Amino acid sequence: MSSAVRANAIPVAEYTLAAILLSGKDAFGLRERFRSDHVFPPLGDHAPVGNLGRGVGVIGASRVGRRLLELLRPLDFSVRLHDPYVDAGEAAELGAVLDELMSTSDIVTLHAPDTPETLRMHNRRRLALMRDGSVLVNTSRGALVDTEALTDELVTGRIGAVLDVTEPEPPPADSPLYRLPNVFLTPHIAGSLGNELERLGRTVVEELALLRAGAPLACAVVQADLVKSA
Ligand SMILES: NC(=O)c1ccc[n+]([C@@H]2O[C@H](COP(=O)([O-])OP(=O)(O)OC[C@H]3O[C@@H](n4cnc5c(N)ncnc54)[C@H](O)[C@@H]3O)[C@@H](O)[C@H]2O)c1
Repeated sequence: MSSAVRANAIPVAEYTLAAILLSGKDAFGLRERFRSDHVFPPLGDHAPVGNLGRGVGVIGASRVGRRLLELLRPLDFSVRLHDPYVDAGEAAELGAVLDELMSTSDIVTLHAPDTPETLRMHNRRRLALMRDGSVLVNTSRGALVDTEALTDELVTGRIGAVLDVTEPEPPPADSPLYRLPNVFLTPHIAGSLGNELERLGRTVVEELALLRAGAPLACAVVQADLVKSA
């Protein structure tokens, strides 16, 4: 059995990188202010924005998480990783305890799968650990987050969010997530869309060629990994 999830991880990681970079500039918030009050320039030189040395907390060294770590490597971020399944070497290099990562990151980005273990792992207590002004990016699954607790935090304006996924999905029509200026909400578009579907098709063709040649599949599904996979 084979799967194109590795190919599908590419656009999700790219979307996440864009979200991180634009959040670091407060581009989403400043755009809202620019539209409403036309203030120009919007900030002083020493405003607390910018991507130099910003702390990015990555949750999940999944296929998306790993691709994102690669994309972040050449940039000037301070990256930490939480994942109970990484080996000791990786844990020693980047690893962080989840609560510590939540309380010390400027951006927290979620890339773990939706499993019984991750269900609402970002509950009210954990969300309250996030630093004032920090941003939660969720391109994984809405089920990883307690939506009500997150909405309560976002309504206060204390933190911001870039949400490609929610629970429920889509949010109800009266959800504040649609209108809050500190929330950038998209309709589950981070994965392959439009011309990106070609990459998934290419993976299938490449896997079939390997199968025909009697070679091992490049994207084989490992039965034992399914309990901790998306
Ligand atoms: N927004 C979109 O369009 C879109 C598209 C594709 C995937 N996704 C989502 O992105 C996420 C990652 O997908 P993937 O295919 O890379 O996942 P994956 O199957 O590669 O993830 C498995 C890995 O996640 C890590 N993990 C498991 N449990 C964890 C935990 N409790 N805490 C931290 N890390 C844990 C482990 O390293 C595990 O090997 C999933 O939630 C998936 O549903 C979203």
